[in-house]
This record gives sequence, structure tokens and C-alpha cells, in this order.
Amino acid sequence: MSKISAAITAVGAYLPEYVLTNQILETMVDTNDEWITSRTGIKERRILKDEGKGTSFLAIKAAKDLISKRNIDPKDIELVIVATATPDMKAASTAAYTAFEIGATNAFSFDMDAACSSFLYGMSVAASYIESGRYKNVLLIGADKMSSIVNYKDRATCIIFGDGAGAVLFEPNEENLGLQDEYLRSDGSGRPFLQATYGGSSYALTPEVLESGGHYAFQEGRTVFKNAVFNMADAAIKILERNKLTNNDVDWLVAHQANKRIIDATANKMELEDSKVMMNIEKYGNTTSATLPLLLNDYEANLKKGDNLIFAAFGGGFNWGSIYLKWAYNS
Ligand code: UT7
Repeated sequence: MSKISAAITAVGAYLPEYVLTNQILETMVDTNDEWITSRTGIKERRILKDEGKGTSFLAIKAAKDLISKRNIDPKDIELVIVATATPDMKAASTAAYTAFEIGATNAFSFDMDAACSSFLYGMSVAASYIESGRYKNVLLIGADKMSSIVNYKDRATCIIFGDGAGAVLFEPNEENLGLQDEYLRSDGSGRPFLQATYGGSSYALTPEVLESGGHYAFQEGRTVFKNAVFNMADAAIKILERNKLTNNDVDWLVAHQANKRIIDATANKMELEDSKVMMNIEKYGNTTSATLPLLLNDYEANLKKGDNLIFAAFGGGFNWGSIYLKWAYNS
């Protein structure tokens, strides 16, 4: 019997309607379109405006998009993972609510948080459940409402982040398509450089904290940037070497969309031409857990069965890594 590998067999996505352009940001903080475009590659991002709608709203829409495109019965879904850094609530699982709302009533579900690497790590977890033979499908959703933790008075963060969600279905494959290899790493010494300090279990939310914006995400951009450039490329190159792949063997780089300069630097170190680099940061900014599935959704029509995809991500914590996956279908 051939080995069971875990393949992505469907994708879906959702983006909220409201478009926050660089021009609008110019009216909110001391910045300008030229600076944002040249330093990040971002032109606009989507924001979920409505009060009371959290990350699950985005996740549910993305999952429903996948379910209708693939025409599956939600009752057949066995596991729902929501990769997110912005769960709806502190205690109640966002994934449980999402599973309930999409009608996945026979599934178990849980949230996963590894900041901007949540979806990448989620791919590893989802694939492991399939490869072990314990489950026949896993719905992995990457969703974040970053606007809920962004300070729109801080020009170092508010220009980067956006809201969105993407979903993929993992199923068994006997043609050796799907996830081939992974290289995942963490380094907790990076915690001071990207965090939302208050409102977790270490530091309580007080009126003073709320007043000063201490509950919002903070980053020391330059330090994060340097670590992201080095580690994303390092992980991707390790994956290439370990699997004896040259740049000619790679069909697509699917890299976390945090900053176009980080993606370009990774692609350069891998010696990849631009046409092999998936890019949509211009339209959505950094949607944290949603960047990778949103890329798959935007590029789905270009992907061919057997294509070699190299995923790479870096995020707060620090957490980072790379995954090598063979695409499993023609759309
Ligand atoms: O998702 C994973 C985690 N996040 C990331 O991977 C993000 C990594 N970091 C970055 O993408 C970049 O560091 C930023 C986009 C956040 C900042 O770009 P940078 O090229 O690293 O800028 P910088 O922080 O070194 O600042 C350069 C200058 C400074 O002015 P001076 O000191 O040279 O006079 C800043 O005050 O640009 C200024 N600046 C801005 N100017 C206009 C910083 N933010 C802005 C802004 N508009 N929004």
C-alpha cells in the first residue's frame, strides 16, 4: 500500500468590503502613499467595520466559500482548525463557533496561534492528522481581524495590517502529492519586538492601559524586518537543499505577505524570478494568518497538478518556517 500524503484539495476566501487606502491613512497619521508603497508595497487593505463581528465572521465566510465551491456536505468535515492571532474572545473557541455556524456538526475544532506563522504551522498539524490515517479531511482556516488590535494612531503598525480569511481542505492523497517536507522554528527571545503587551494573563487591562493604547500590537519594525528577511530565506533554502530542489524545480513561492521587501529578499536568495512569486500584499496588506490561503485563492487558477510550492512565513514570537507542498489538482 502506498503512503498516505496530505493534499490541499480546495480553497476559499473572504475579504470584508471596506477598503482602507493609503490616501485615507494619510488623513489619520503622519504618513504618505509614496512612503508606504516604497517601504512595504501596500496600497490598500480591507477592514471589517461592523461592531460585534469578530474573526469568526471572516472565518465562517471563507469556509462557506470553500464548501460551496467544492460542493461538500459540512456534516462530512471531521476537524476544523482556525489559525488566528485575534480570536473572537479570550475563553470561548473561535473554531467551535465557526464549525457550528458552517454546519460542521460532526467535527471537533480548535484554535491555533503562532502569530503570522499560524497558518503555516496549521498546515503541519492538519497534514499530520491526515498522514496518520486518523481523519479523512481537515478544514484549515486562517483568519484575522487585525484591525481589532491595531492602533490607528501608530503609523508604524496601522499602515501594514488588514483583515481577511482564507480556508483550505486537506485530504488523503495516494499519488504522493501534498505536503512533502517542513522546517519549522521558534525563538522566544524575539518576544519584546512584536507583541500586544496588555490584556493577556501577564498584564491586566486597566483604564490607564486603555488610555495609553497598551493593549494594541506594538512592533520594533526594523528588528522584526531583519529577522524576517534572514529566517524566511534561511528556512526556504534549507527546504530546497534537503529535498534536492533547484530554483528551476520551484514553481511558486507562497510567502507571508508582511512587507514586499521581505518577500523580494527571500525570492532573491532563492534565485527565483518574479513570475514564480505569489504577491497580493498591494491589495490586502498583512492579514497575519490569512496571507497564505489568500494567495492560494488568488492564484488557484494558475496552479497545476504536480506544481512545487514553497511556503514561507515569519511572525511574532518569533515563529517561522518553510513547507514544501506539491499541488494536487487543476482547477
Ligand atoms: O508579519 C510579521 C511581522 N511584521 C513584519 O514582518 C514587519 C517587519 N517590518 C517592516 O515591515 C518595516 O520595518 C516597517 C514597514 C514597519 C517600517 O519600515 P522601515 O523601512 O523599517 O522603516 P523604519 O522603522 O526604519 O523607519 C524609517 C523612517 C523613520 O524616520 P527617520 O528616523 O529615518 O527620520 C521613521 O520614523 O521612516 C519613518 N516612518 C514613517 N514615515 C512615514 C516610520 N513609519 C512611517 C510611516 N510613514 N508610516
